[in-house]
Amino acid sequence: MSRIVVTGKIPAAGLALLRAEPGVEVVAWDVDEPMDRAALLAFVGGADGLVTLLTERVDAELLDAAGPQLKAVSNVAVGYNNIDVSACRDRNVIVTNTPGVLTDATADIAMALILMTTRRLAEGERIIRSRTKWQWGMFYLLGSGIQGRRLGIIGMGTIGQALARRARAFGMVIVYSNRNPVAASIESELGAVMVTLDELVATSDIVSVNCPYGPATHHLIDAPLLANFNPTAFLINTARGPIVDEAALVDALERGQLAGAGLDVFEHEPLVHEGLLDRDDVVLIPHLGSATVETRDAMAVLAARNAVAIHRGQPPLTVVHS
Ligand code: DGY
Repeated sequence: MSRIVVTGKIPAAGLALLRAEPGVEVVAWDVDEPMDRAALLAFVGGADGLVTLLTERVDAELLDAAGPQLKAVSNVAVGYNNIDVSACRDRNVIVTNTPGVLTDATADIAMALILMTTRRLAEGERIIRSRTKWQWGMFYLLGSGIQGRRLGIIGMGTIGQALARRARAFGMVIVYSNRNPVAASIESELGAVMVTLDELVATSDIVSVNCPYGPATHHLIDAPLLANFNPTAFLINTARGPIVDEAALVDALERGQLAGAGLDVFEHEPLVHEGLLDRDDVVLIPHLGSATVETRDAMAVLAARNAVAIHRGQPPLTVVHS
């Protein structure tokens, strides 16, 4: 019997798939809040497979607490910065993630943040909810239009491309920065032009962060880069918080080096920098990129299929490292 330990509450469709697998015993945490660390370390003991959420830090300590029989960690997220991949590699533990199934949901949220920031939607909503007197006015709460504006996408993977498709439908012009150019067919479909990061931030009206997080992208958006933003530009981040130096962002907003920001992710999540909380030029939402019923089901199912494949000795569907 293999023991698969699910360390956070996941949708029933994923659990059902695990439970239907012959020769698998499933042990699942079923509270929609992260377990405290000591309890988590005890909970994973004896696991052959782990199904983890991005709120769990999967490091050497946790892998050792699971034990030497551990074969795989199936993360229910596309991002896997919560996992120490080299510690897994050292112990021959396979790591999988859930790319693809959350592409549209995340691109939708990035597009929503573009509209919310440029059209001042959250600010308007706060006015009404606070029962502040308001009146339609020719110059009241004017935002800026996005048609014909330039969207700079940092990280042109599947989510960046899905955002570009949406933005094109809104009449935006696309530039991007990436490690490598995307296929010429995608560039021509999206009318997208690759530029350097410096050129992207200096010339874009909206800068959207869509790259993975890792040592190479920690504080990629830092004070010197923010100083090169167009003062009328907005920064959107739906990737990972620590890609942006949050203190530097607050400082740049204070100095008027950019016009505002729309953030779904935060550097010290779930904490949010105090300097952001009272600003009207910033839209803050609590990491909702993949938060639809359909997407979370699909993520749980994909993670479960990866765990089952590894249990059967088959190649997993979406591997980070094997
Ligand atoms: C992911 O899968 O990495 C997302 O951030 C989860 O919402």
